[in-house]
Amino acid sequence: MNAHDSEKVIGTLVQQGYDKVENEEDADLILYNTCSIRDKAEQKVFNRLNDYKRLHRQGKRFGVLGCVAQQEGEKIFERAPYVSLVSGSASYNKLPEMLVQLEAGNTRITGLDDRQTEETFETEFTARSNPHRGYITIIEGCDKFCAYCVVPYTRGKERSRTSTSVLAEARRMADQGYTEIQLLGQNVNSYRDQEGKRSFAELLAAVGEIPGIRRVRFTTSHPRDFTQDIVQAIDAVPSLCDHVHLPVQSGSSRVLHLMQREYTREWYLERIAWIKAARRPISMTTDIIVGFPGETPEDFEQTIDMLADVQYDGVFAFKYSPRPNTPAVTMADSIPEEEKSQRLQILLDRQRELQRVNYAKHVGEEVEVMVEGYNSARGQVNGRTSQNKTLNFTTRSTILPAIGSYLKVKVTQSFPNSLVGEAMGL
Ligand code: 5AD
Ligand code: SF4
Repeated sequence: MNAHDSEKVIGTLVQQGYDKVENEEDADLILYNTCSIRDKAEQKVFNRLNDYKRLHRQGKRFGVLGCVAQQEGEKIFERAPYVSLVSGSASYNKLPEMLVQLEAGNTRITGLDDRQTEETFETEFTARSNPHRGYITIIEGCDKFCAYCVVPYTRGKERSRTSTSVLAEARRMADQGYTEIQLLGQNVNSYRDQEGKRSFAELLAAVGEIPGIRRVRFTTSHPRDFTQDIVQAIDAVPSLCDHVHLPVQSGSSRVLHLMQREYTREWYLERIAWIKAARRPISMTTDIIVGFPGETPEDFEQTIDMLADVQYDGVFAFKYSPRPNTPAVTMADSIPEEEKSQRLQILLDRQRELQRVNYAKHVGEEVEVMVEGYNSARGQVNGRTSQNKTLNFTTRSTILPAIGSYLKVKVTQSFPNSLVGEAMGL
């Protein structure tokens, strides 16, 4: 989400006549996009800002964008006085005006819209960094208020784009040669077309039917709002990828309640059953938080059981990190850091074993990959499957397949996180 915000900011500013440079030394203005989802990400920001002191002496100006900017607001000017601009994502529409103020010599410019804004940040000038695969934001902000999460406070309230505008952007991308589109939102399942024309599943299908688009992905889903018609759309439209990322956060209904996730373990597993009943095998991945305040060893055990119940192909697991303003920050953080680390390790080890077995099931299959890059040291081409798995492969031809091209590969070997294969017919 942040990477795509940066692409939109860059495109908008280039359109205004600014030039993008490759390194900080060549820049007059440095805009630093930030994340505050966990404490570690936030600490990184302040460490990095410290480095900018030196560059400031060379006359450069600085702006801080993103969730740390929104969260800390004007406090950033106190902590890092060489910063002249602070803007949250809900104010990016106003960046061109803010830069005019900056050029006029103003050194304390803020764009801190909080939850007030109704606007979405749409621009025709997104500077996408990859010419084959690109993101499109369909919904911004979040109204879910999970007890641990800072996003509803930093990215503002939920606001969807019209499906007409999303489809126009997708068609423009197809015309430019993009073949893969990833629809983005904090919770894509609560997408509400402003014009009332299309549900999320209908929008997904419509993007998948655009001539030239071969792969469509979407992230992130919320189990509370995930509907069966999404699975039906994947069944009906071959370009919709065989992959659903459905964050569970915890396998214990008690902890889910404390987290204010608004679903139970059983509710979640019912959605997983829909996905497993699809006509083609759909790969599933998830996010998990360990050590949420009050998580007992029994609760954690239920999360571990969830791994085998679902058979995920990938898990992003995090230690609970207390975040400012969130309800969970006032709950007694009863799990010591050491215990959190242990639980995380147990979970990652268990998941690795499951993936070792599940990835091995692909050996012998013939799958289509999109070529992403080359590893010349290993003589391999890096590809990605529709299930979003990495497949590194060799070819017999001396001419390497182009990045962004699609080929059939036979899987010959597997690891817990990747597959190995040989290109077919090359
Ligand atoms: N602590 C740890 N992990 C968090 N996430 C969100 N907020 C926190 C937090 N305070 C995780 C969730 C979410 C993912 C993007 O980050 O698992 O799905
Ligand atoms: Fe955060 Fe919950 Fe919204 Fe996801 S759905 S962004 S975890 S508040």
